[in-house]
Amino acid sequence: MRQSSLVVVANRLPVDDTVAPDGACEWRRSPGGLVSALHPILHHTPATWVGWAGGTGPAPSLPDVDGVRMHTVALTAEDVREHYEGFANATLWPLYHDAVEQPVYHRRWWESYQRVNQRFAEAAAEIAEPGAVVWVQDYHLQLVPGMLRELRPDLLIGFFLHVPFPPPELFMQLPRRAELLLGMLGADLVGFQRAQAAHNFAQLCAKVLNVPATDRRIAVEDRVVRIGAFPVSIDMAEMEQLARSPEVVARARQFRADLGEPQHMILSVDRMDYTKGIEHRLKAYSELLADGHVKVRDSVMVQVVVPSRERVEQYQVLRDRVEHKVGRINGEFGRVGEPAIHYLNQPFDRAGLAALYRAADIMVVTPLRDGMNLVAKEYVAARVDNTGALVLSEFAGAAAELTQAYLVNPHDLDGLKLTLMHAKEASPGDVTARMGAMREYLRAHDIQAWARSYLTALDHTGSLAARLTAD
Ligand code: G6P
Repeated sequence: MRQSSLVVVANRLPVDDTVAPDGACEWRRSPGGLVSALHPILHHTPATWVGWAGGTGPAPSLPDVDGVRMHTVALTAEDVREHYEGFANATLWPLYHDAVEQPVYHRRWWESYQRVNQRFAEAAAEIAEPGAVVWVQDYHLQLVPGMLRELRPDLLIGFFLHVPFPPPELFMQLPRRAELLLGMLGADLVGFQRAQAAHNFAQLCAKVLNVPATDRRIAVEDRVVRIGAFPVSIDMAEMEQLARSPEVVARARQFRADLGEPQHMILSVDRMDYTKGIEHRLKAYSELLADGHVKVRDSVMVQVVVPSRERVEQYQVLRDRVEHKVGRINGEFGRVGEPAIHYLNQPFDRAGLAALYRAADIMVVTPLRDGMNLVAKEYVAARVDNTGALVLSEFAGAAAELTQAYLVNPHDLDGLKLTLMHAKEASPGDVTARMGAMREYLRAHDIQAWARSYLTALDHTGSLAARLTAD
């Protein structure tokens, strides 16, 4: 087995299986989220990505993706049910997002979570060359840093949590809270999206484990674990280039024509997830239609929802509720050939998304809680002519950085309506000044900057970070 100096460990591999026109199965780099966050840094150094390819059964052997070796971890149907859909997405996910849905606790799920984490840790231990950097990602794998340290104390181990880390009042609910904290403390550096999350983590370590902890350092046995905030970002250059391409410009124009050349195109793009505030947003929009503040002919709303975690019960219930609401709104306010809301429940390719971003005058990103929200950043990146208004929830990590957005509390329906109207009626000068400032910020804080700052903090000598960014 060939070993690597950089190993990324994430629940998912950065590939999707697609069906080619001739019917053959093809693996392609998958867009969006965590995958696009890490992709650009990995082709600068010999690296292996350890992850799950989706599905069950034996691990497929996959070709390299942009020079990065793919190492597949197989999950059985039981693992998927109990580790991925269960402990990760029905226990941790809702708990870490302010318990906007009730977290479910099952002891069997915990057993499965441990087993699967051990499998990932063993795979990383086998592949990492002596002294390698291993960077573990996200809430599915919180025990991996501790397990890996047991197996390979020579490694430099990083852990980054892409989702929020909750306040002690919520985390204390977890039956296996001490083990989860100790698992993360197996890392040399634990990174979060926001400083508040690092603070929550330090408080919990002090309270649950009774160890000395500040918002920067935690002492465990004979080691010091560093913690900090490293807000993740997007590949700004890639999105800008896509948004400028003639194909995307033409598709954006076509979208507007297909929508009947409205004065205002309002867009939302979310995974189908109860954390995204889709229902709150639809309610606010329907009230604006009912009040007469928004007229169907002048304004159209496009709501793209990307299917997600479809076998988890809360997600099925959400889909029914969203579709019921969209149906009611269109039934009440639509006209023949002019729905009030254009609702699309389907995945979109990158060019399609870029075209939607380019077409939309107003982008509405109003999660009830979100670790970062890369869609908000992608919209800014795609607005190459400095136009476009971003309405952004205060509860998205991105709000700490994109402070010139039209910020809103999505629980406050009147506030949400007012902010939507404010964005719709803003002067071109105001819109351009805000967008220009956000674009400038993102140019200096793109995905490469994120990786550089995290890896520099992880690797004191700085040699790895230098190699990663030397083209
Ligand atoms: C969030 C998580 C990622 C996850 C993504 C998509 O962004 O932080 O780790 O990959 O959602 O969810 P899925 O369950 O499809 O992997």
